[in-house]
Amino acid sequence: MKRTLLKRIGIGILVGVMSISLISCGSTTDSKKSNDTSAAASSSLEAIKSKGKLVIGTSADYPPYEFHKEVDGKDEIVGFDIDIAKQFAKDLGVELEVKDMAFDGLLVALQSDKVDMVFAGMTPTEERKQNVDFSDMYYTATHRFIVRSGDETKITSMDDLKGKKIGVQKGSIQEGIAKDNFDAADIKSLDKVTDLILDLKNNKVDAVLAELPVAEINVEKNSGIAMVKDLVVKDPDGGVAIAMKKDSPELRDAINNTIKTLGQDKINQMAKDANNLVE
Ligand code: ARG
Repeated sequence: MKRTLLKRIGIGILVGVMSISLISCGSTTDSKKSNDTSAAASSSLEAIKSKGKLVIGTSADYPPYEFHKEVDGKDEIVGFDIDIAKQFAKDLGVELEVKDMAFDGLLVALQSDKVDMVFAGMTPTEERKQNVDFSDMYYTATHRFIVRSGDETKITSMDDLKGKKIGVQKGSIQEGIAKDNFDAADIKSLDKVTDLILDLKNNKVDAVLAELPVAEINVEKNSGIAMVKDLVVKDPDGGVAIAMKKDSPELRDAINNTIKTLGQDKINQMAKDANNLVE
């Protein structure tokens, strides 16, 4: 009887202490929230470490950067971006989770904390830099048009494509390049490059614009399509980097360190190896 009472008092005290600590906890959370953007972002490296997991967003329609592959009867996302992410997770000593989504939704997912970083062959454009931070560039490439076999020799300039249907990925820089050069009515924007390739084969678009390695591997693996070699589309931003929330200097240093340690030769090799995994 006495013991139960003591216990009760004990529990009562405990509950009291807990609610006090909850209140004080609440207030610290609140004050943290008020300067969330900078405080949380500057500690995004710590946040990843403390949850023991790096969550990345990608758009797995872009071999050799990222794509789906059946490994031991299971669907997996592979590619050299994913290999870099794996290395980074290893360097941090955390697990890796890959979320596949439309390219167009990646930066929104980043800003709403659905993912910690974006590994998606993303070009660090000035416009994107207003909203997110980027790692150093780890790969550069120009762009090429993919067309139906036989058409590749007929095209040597943008003018030769005028009046044709141009397929581009929604939200990509290729979409911007298309908008700068063609009538809006002639541009078809889709979420996935894989669907654009299907549309090309099914005569729903006449040309698809993508980064050179992507054009090359798609042409190699799909019959009936070819790459226009004589029309090289350059862009001033030319290259890809990893995106993270704005003002994440520690996270940026850490990923840049992984990129540097891997080195360009190794990354180029990873891209080549990824090509060999494409079905
Ligand atoms: N580099 C281009 C861009 O940043 C296209 C990237 C497409 N990436 C992908 N995973 N589908 O807009």
